[in-house]
Amino acid sequence: MPSDAQAGASPRVPVELNHASRLVNHGPTVLISTEAGGRRNVMAAAWSMPVEFTPPRIAVVIDKSTFTREQVAATGMLALNLPCRALADLTYTVGSVSGRDDASSPADKFDRYGIGSFTGPVLGLPLVSGCVGWLECRVIAEPHTEQAYDTFFVEVVSAQADPRVFSHGHWHPDPAHPELHTLHHFGAGLFGVAAETVQGRVLD
Ligand SMILES: Cc1cc2nc3c(=O)[nH]c(=O)nc-3n(C[C@H](O)[C@H](O)[C@H](O)COP(=O)(O)O)c2cc1C
Repeated sequence: MPSDAQAGASPRVPVELNHASRLVNHGPTVLISTEAGGRRNVMAAAWSMPVEFTPPRIAVVIDKSTFTREQVAATGMLALNLPCRALADLTYTVGSVSGRDDASSPADKFDRYGIGSFTGPVLGLPLVSGCVGWLECRVIAEPHTEQAYDTFFVEVVSAQADPRVFSHGHWHPDPAHPELHTLHHFGAGLFGVAAETVQGRVLD
C-alpha cells in the first residue's frame, strides 16, 4: 500500500465541526471508506447531504448490496472523503467494483488500485490520500430507516480539508488548481466539477 507520503499527500488542516456540513453542502460525490475485521474498503457515493448543523449530521445512501454496507453494519463507523478532478478515474473505479469481489485475495481496493491512505485522527479509519476533504463519522442507529430506505444518518466527529480550496469554513475553488475541484456525478462515470463561482447579492 502506498503511504501517504508516497502517494503525494495533499496538505490538510482541521475543520471546526460547526463548519463540517459546508464540506458537503454543495453536493459533491464522496468516497465512503471503512475498515472492519482487518479489511479496508472504499466505494463512491453520489447521494449524501447535510441534515443538521450542530452536532453536524449527514444522511448518506448505502445500498444493501454493497460490501461497504456490511462493514458499516459491523462497526457503526465510516469516513466520507471528498475526491477531486484528479481522482475521477479512481472514483468511478471504486464505484464500479465491489470489495467483496476480492474476498479470495489479500488485495483490497486500496492495494489493487494503489490508493494512498492515512489514518483518521479520531476513529482511526483509513482516509483516502489526494482528496480535498475528509470526515470521520459515527452511525446514528436508525434500523428502520436503514432497512426501508438504505439511508444512514451519521454524525461527524472529525473534519479536515485541503486549505488550497477550503479554509476559514468556506470553499474557494481556485482556477489555478483545476485538479482540486470537487466532482458531481451525472451518471455512467461522467462528472461535472465545481469550478466557476458567482457571488450572489441580496436585492434591494
Ligand atoms: C459516481 C458513483 C456514485 C455512486 N453513488 C452511490 C450512492 O450514493 N449509493 C450507493 O449505494 N451506491 C452508489 N454507487 C455505487 C457503489 O459505489 C458501488 O456499488 C460499489 O461498487 C460498492 O462497492 P463495495 O461493494 O465495495 O462497497 C455509486 C457509484 C458511482 C460510480
